[in-house]
Amino acid sequence: MMEITETLSYDDVLLLPSYSDTLPGEVDIKSRLCGDIVLKTPILSAAMDTVTEERLAIAMALQGGAGVIHRNLLPEEQARQVGSVKRSLNWIIDKPITVDRNMTIDDVKSIKAKYKISGLPVVDDNNKLCGIITKRDMRFCSDLSLKVHEVMTANPVIADEQIDIKGAVALFDKHKIEKIPVVDKNGFVTGLITVKDLEKQEQYPNAAMDRRGRLIVGAAISPQDWERRIPLLMENSVDFVVLDTAHGDSSSVVKAVQDIKRKYSINVIGGNVATAEGTKRIIDAGADAVKIGIGPGSICTTRIVSGIGVPQFTAVQWCAEEALKHNIPIIADGGIKFSGDITKAICAGASTVMLGNLLAGLKEAPGQAIIYDGRMFKSYRGMGSIGAIKEGSGDRYQMKAGDEPVPEGIEGRVPYKGELKPFLHQLSTGLRKGMFYCGCKSIKELREYEKFAKISPAGLLESHAHDIMITQEAPNYSR
Ligand code: XMP
Repeated sequence: MMEITETLSYDDVLLLPSYSDTLPGEVDIKSRLCGDIVLKTPILSAAMDTVTEERLAIAMALQGGAGVIHRNLLPEEQARQVGSVKRSLNWIIDKPITVDRNMTIDDVKSIKAKYKISGLPVVDDNNKLCGIITKRDMRFCSDLSLKVHEVMTANPVIADEQIDIKGAVALFDKHKIEKIPVVDKNGFVTGLITVKDLEKQEQYPNAAMDRRGRLIVGAAISPQDWERRIPLLMENSVDFVVLDTAHGDSSSVVKAVQDIKRKYSINVIGGNVATAEGTKRIIDAGADAVKIGIGPGSICTTRIVSGIGVPQFTAVQWCAEEALKHNIPIIADGGIKFSGDITKAICAGASTVMLGNLLAGLKEAPGQAIIYDGRMFKSYRGMGSIGAIKEGSGDRYQMKAGDEPVPEGIEGRVPYKGELKPFLHQLSTGLRKGMFYCGCKSIKELREYEKFAKISPAGLLESHAHDIMITQEAPNYSR
């Protein structure tokens, strides 16, 4: 007899409340994305051409999440966007402009004026750091023909390449200086830390940053294009790549993960899968995280077109159980309609979630807001929709250029939501509230929480606002 397994989607379940000795504002929602990347907000924006380009990726990372730049862009343009995210906030200036110790003060003044900078590391004939020349050194210097080495501060305070923000603050505090050159183990200048840039960091206490204080960003690749994209992406310091396919449990994706991990030292997220076996194959291939979801997305028609899929709550549970054995995090991708679904996805075992629909209406998402019937909207479409396939995403759905499109997604519009920051606050606070109701103080505790109930259609009806005509929409609830 064929066995039919019972499966559940987010709407089929609710978490049971438990005794709580914490508060929503006190719980810790940081979580591991992949490798050693930890996000203070466990939310990713989807690699879709109506969701994540540089602007949304910057906004996401500033608030503690991360964006995955889609791949309906030429490799050069995708890499440029990654570079733009990486440059948007940094506390170590990469490869700063330096001056030679034998230049004149006149030369230095021109360089300072041209680049609008005030402090310059000084290098010797071997290009190694030998001093720093700042506004203070030049304040009383009226003879413009003097050489830099006659005026500079020799043997300045320096930092090594492993320095972190705390270490830099301590150095500034101790020495009461404005700028610190960063040097490698051979004495070559690789960076410059300024008090001003460090102060800027303080405006974004939750920002997702790499060791150098640059925002975290990912990029989508495929088994067909990774060889072209990865070198360009790495040149721009991408933090992770996502094998963005509709069927990750396939030979081409497994091979791509293996080949990439063999060739490059980079975090690779493999997907999408929806079974324990698929998760194991991607992990065995060397992936640093696995993305879960076959057909739960709001714009997906895969399940209808092909008859395939696993309701997302169960898919996440199955895959999480396998991934836990290998200490590899999983990402619940698609089907999240409300903040409560984020709590449910993490309770099912996900470490982070990926959102498309919920973020497509934001100001920072690509495209202009459109007015329809007196209300504002933004376009949102599946990467397997006819429009997106025409712009290059057909290989996600096993199509080759020139094939007659057989879409697995649709095109539409979602309500305009304004700026990301307040909206993400609604989502992350919804998650915090969920954790409070369960008495879970950390994402780890929520992932281990096992008290949930299956509900009936009447239970779902009762959960939503009912028996009322809504006159004032809430920023975190609309139907
Ligand atoms: P949400 O529910 O957040 O889902 O809108 C976003 C996720 O849906 C996936 N995706 C697709 N799946 N056909 C599909 O079957 C499509 O055209 C399509 N486009 C995106 C993707 O995993 C995304 O993150």
